[in-house]
Amino acid sequence: MDSTQAWIERGRPAHVAIIMDGNGRWARSRGLPRSAGHSRGAEALRRAVRAALELGLDCLTVFAFSSENWYRPAREVDGLMGLLRHYLKGEIGELHGNGVRLRFIGARERLPADIISLIDESEARTRDNGQLTLVVALSYGGRQEFVAAARRLAAAAAAGRLDPDKIDEDQVAAALFTAGLPDPDLVIRTSGERRISNFLLWQTAYSELVFLDKFWPDFDKSDLEAAILEYQKRQRRYGVLEEAG
Ligand code: IPE
Ligand code: IPE
Ligand code: MG
Repeated sequence: MDSTQAWIERGRPAHVAIIMDGNGRWARSRGLPRSAGHSRGAEALRRAVRAALELGLDCLTVFAFSSENWYRPAREVDGLMGLLRHYLKGEIGELHGNGVRLRFIGARERLPADIISLIDESEARTRDNGQLTLVVALSYGGRQEFVAAARRLAAAAAAGRLDPDKIDEDQVAAALFTAGLPDPDLVIRTSGERRISNFLLWQTAYSELVFLDKFWPDFDKSDLEAAILEYQKRQRRYGVLEEAG
């Protein structure tokens, strides 16, 4: 509970996770194609990363593409992959220069081969950076993550490397894509939807949730600050009672 204690004392969230939702509706409300919303969404991500650096967060996780988003029309999926390619190539220099460590979580084997290479390279290039860890959830689903973890643990048990009776929370956490990362303190979802949509199911057990009505392309630093202010008003209890005076 050491890290929990530190968060309580500091009051500032170390790890903020964002469900970047509403690009399509942003575009539709302006009579633009959905792709225009995604492009503006990429700009909002750029702003959010800069804001996270300025606010001194340790970790920012963004939900960029879900396991279920693969079932959108091919044209939209291809457009999103193209945008991702463009974003990674265009941003990696500035991210690295600003001390950002990049990490990708999700089923990367489903991604196009050149994008797998790009994300492998950007993780390797930035691995020693310490200003901010930017976690990009890509081809990510919380349930799919559990399945992958169950397979990994079962294989270790079948090979005699793991005693099933000794499996504990730490071992499950270490088998997830997020191994080694702290749990999010605060989860923000834009677009007015109030659901988790298969995002970080295990890791958000005690996260504070803040829902914003604006669409992701309109998100800026003041929204991140307002969400953090809202977070600071919450009392996190983790199921236990306060110490009596
Ligand atoms: C979020 O915006 C981006 C992705 C899910 C890839 P949406 O594309 O879900 O936009 P809406 O929710 O349809 O407005
Ligand atoms: C969640 O948004 C996934 C991302 C933001 C990448 P969706 O738009 O896919 O979620 P639903 O369909 O509204 O639940
Ligand atoms: Mg959506």
